[in-house]
Amino acid sequence: MGDGATRSVLLVVGGGIAAYKTLELIRRLREHGLRVRTVLTDAGARFVTPMSIQALSGERVFSDLFSLTDESEMGHIALSRSSNLVVVCPATADLLARMATGLAGDLATTVLLATDTPVLVAPAMNVRMWTHAATQANVATLRARGVAFVGPESGLMACNESGPGRLAETDAILAAILRGLSPDRPLAGRRALVTAGPTHEPIDPVRYIANRSSGMQGYAIAEALAAAGADVTLVSGPTTLPDPAGMHTVRVETARDMLDACRHALPCDIAVCTAAVADWHVAPATQKIKKTADAAPPALQLLPNPDILATLSQPGPTRPGLIIGFAAETEHVLAHATTKRERKGCDWIVANDVSPGTGIMGGTENEVTLIDAAGCEHWPRLDKTQVAHRLVARIATFLQTPHPKPE
Ligand code: CTP
Repeated sequence: MGDGATRSVLLVVGGGIAAYKTLELIRRLREHGLRVRTVLTDAGARFVTPMSIQALSGERVFSDLFSLTDESEMGHIALSRSSNLVVVCPATADLLARMATGLAGDLATTVLLATDTPVLVAPAMNVRMWTHAATQANVATLRARGVAFVGPESGLMACNESGPGRLAETDAILAAILRGLSPDRPLAGRRALVTAGPTHEPIDPVRYIANRSSGMQGYAIAEALAAAGADVTLVSGPTTLPDPAGMHTVRVETARDMLDACRHALPCDIAVCTAAVADWHVAPATQKIKKTADAAPPALQLLPNPDILATLSQPGPTRPGLIIGFAAETEHVLAHATTKRERKGCDWIVANDVSPGTGIMGGTENEVTLIDAAGCEHWPRLDKTQVAHRLVARIATFLQTPHPKPE
């Protein structure tokens, strides 16, 4: 296993047009402080040169099973076990078939058969090759043996056909590698956005419209996401809570500022909107509004605020893959929350009853129901931190299961 502090990846580069993308992957892995050693297959060497890999990885490239020099310096068995993760990228149909059957006719397959470290595979091939029963059976065999997969994605391929078979994006492969290196951090490599707290909508320089949200639940979720390895941006309205460690906190005041800050945090994989955003604002007076004894109290003309959750949930290239809203209700909780999920277009809604008697608004506990397209799941009354950890565990499980993106 790796050499102490520096975590190390053994990259097996198969043949295929997508092989050139491994150069960018190596650069990104090195930026993350990872050591990258590469085994280049003969087919892979037709698409990328050992020279480019060596230049980017800063390591000698291994390709020959029978190289006397390589064997004397680092035997193939040692090579297969001296990394924290073996990554096969791109994995061709041929390589998957040889892995599944246990063939070991070259250095790449020998290393894969001899390794005792986790293996992550990023397949890339023609759509018919990927969907062929033989390939699918090999994939199922490898999955059953604990091999992890990232991709393939759907789209137009070099061969001009369209469908599943395209190598996953470099970002997705990188994220999968980071997770593979830290199984206790299931959200490593994922970006998350959390909104929290109330918003303040100024009436004049000294007065504002606000609500009773403490921000506690949102901060707890942001901290649980960060603990699970996510790169978190917390966009917070005014609260008395300190900036949590290990994340980027953006302080805002109004709903419109909150929306701007959220837009800046895109793209991200997960958005959790816990903020109690004021639904309205007023055009604020530039000077303090004075009372005049004989005049009627000033009327406030309320103007609508943007709906941040609904805006983020609109379909488009920057829509986060999983969007979670909160529904704070005081009556007909499940009915209101279910329609709210549909109206706002988010994926999940966490519903809670915030009637004054419950002590939830401003309190340390929460009792929620998680609602998704499939139905409702009621959770017991828990500490807000426990709710956060349970929600983050659900998020991690959801993201580990492949969900096809709409074309
Ligand atoms: N939300 C938002 N932007 C708004 C209003 C709400 O992002 N302008 C989000 C909240 O962060 C929460 C969800 O929408 O995730 C539901 O908020 P809630 O206050 O319960 O719903 P409203 O849209 O305000 O609906 P209503 O007041 O009618 O219950």
